[in-house]
Amino acid sequence: MSKVKVVFTPSGIQGEVERNTDIMSAAIQLGADIATLCGGNGQCARCKVQISEGSFAKHNIHSTVDNLSDASQTEHRKLSVGSLKNGYRLACRAKILNDIVVDVPAESQVHHQLIRKTAGNLDSQFLSGALSAIQLIQVQVEQPQLDNPSGDLERFIKATESISGLAKLAIEPCLLGSIQNTLRQGNWKVTVAIYELNKIIAIWPGKQTEFYGLAVDIGSTTIATHLCDLNTGKVIASQGLMNPQIKYGEDLMSRVSYIMMNPGGDQSMTAVVREAICDMVNLMLRETKVDRETLLDAVFVANPVMHHLFLGINPIELGGAPFALATQSSVSLAASALNLNLAKGAQVYLPPCIAGHVGADAAAVVLAEAPYQSELMTLIIDVGTNAEIILGNKEKLVAASSPTGPAFEGAQIENGQRAAPGAIERVRIDPENIRAQDKNYWL
Ligand code: FES
Repeated sequence: MSKVKVVFTPSGIQGEVERNTDIMSAAIQLGADIATLCGGNGQCARCKVQISEGSFAKHNIHSTVDNLSDASQTEHRKLSVGSLKNGYRLACRAKILNDIVVDVPAESQVHHQLIRKTAGNLDSQFLSGALSAIQLIQVQVEQPQLDNPSGDLERFIKATESISGLAKLAIEPCLLGSIQNTLRQGNWKVTVAIYELNKIIAIWPGKQTEFYGLAVDIGSTTIATHLCDLNTGKVIASQGLMNPQIKYGEDLMSRVSYIMMNPGGDQSMTAVVREAICDMVNLMLRETKVDRETLLDAVFVANPVMHHLFLGINPIELGGAPFALATQSSVSLAASALNLNLAKGAQVYLPPCIAGHVGADAAAVVLAEAPYQSELMTLIIDVGTNAEIILGNKEKLVAASSPTGPAFEGAQIENGQRAAPGAIERVRIDPENIRAQDKNYWL
């Protein structure tokens, strides 16, 4: 019987199985991991997987749901019409007829990838919140009078400028619809959030003291988000997730080549990464009970390909020399322009990218570690799927980057595994007897 090739994402596990093997059996044979509660009897629907559509040059596969057997009656019963249309199938029921790329969503994985990207507080200026781009001020607004026909907005801006000492304040247009209600609800006393001394981005009735920010690192393999109290600078919640773009390619160049071969692939990647970030925001807001309307500011760092895709920019120019960026300047825009679920008027900032493959993440590392203030020569290495190296001191800094994915993050490795349960995280040798400590030592 002839063989077919199967690639599982995000694990990167791949190999050949007999044609007509069901996806679950293929996963078991190749060592990929798909959840089941019913033992493959078609009852639990825990084995739901999604077929990746398109051409994957790296694997030499044109993957489509047509490379599977038709959906069985069980699948029609267990999966919605929309799910089937979007390429979801039950792994224990769908048989592989031709080469295929199978994405195993997080809820169908037995062992979740471990993602630890804890945030450390480095600088007392950041800690004090003194460098926040947002100011909260309280404003008393004049009430309308028959003999003064000015609009509520104009009186509100005049009062805000007078109390803050700022001039020519703009307002996020999305606030216009609620301003009259807010003023009356607060009996003409409101709290105003001003962004970078020039734009009103939130208004609350009465007194408001809490406001929050989001810090996000979009890596090729993982995304880390931190929710920060902007009064204190403290991180109050964190979330990590595999970057869902992995189903389009494990490394940057695979994703760029997917886009080249699959028109519209960039838009799909933009959509999935923004959705993942929204999911993480929801989880953190639920955990901390922070009101979404107080989440006013967000900073995103990423390598150039992730940066472009997040912003909805096609990154194919980064796929070959001279690796031209769409922009190397910092980017500021409203969160609503990116369909992010923050406060209505929330703002987003991305630091500048340094060069074609040295991104805003490297710029953020330089800002945090401040080698530009040091007399001593400093070497900074950020090891991820793509690694950046920065060397220098206050005289001069140089940076370079290189793909490291398979070596450090477990894509396509034959021996060893990703950072998931079962991996050896650390080993401690007892200095007395030169033997490895047993696990109870750590409890
Ligand atoms: S393993 Fe239960 S439905 Fe497939």
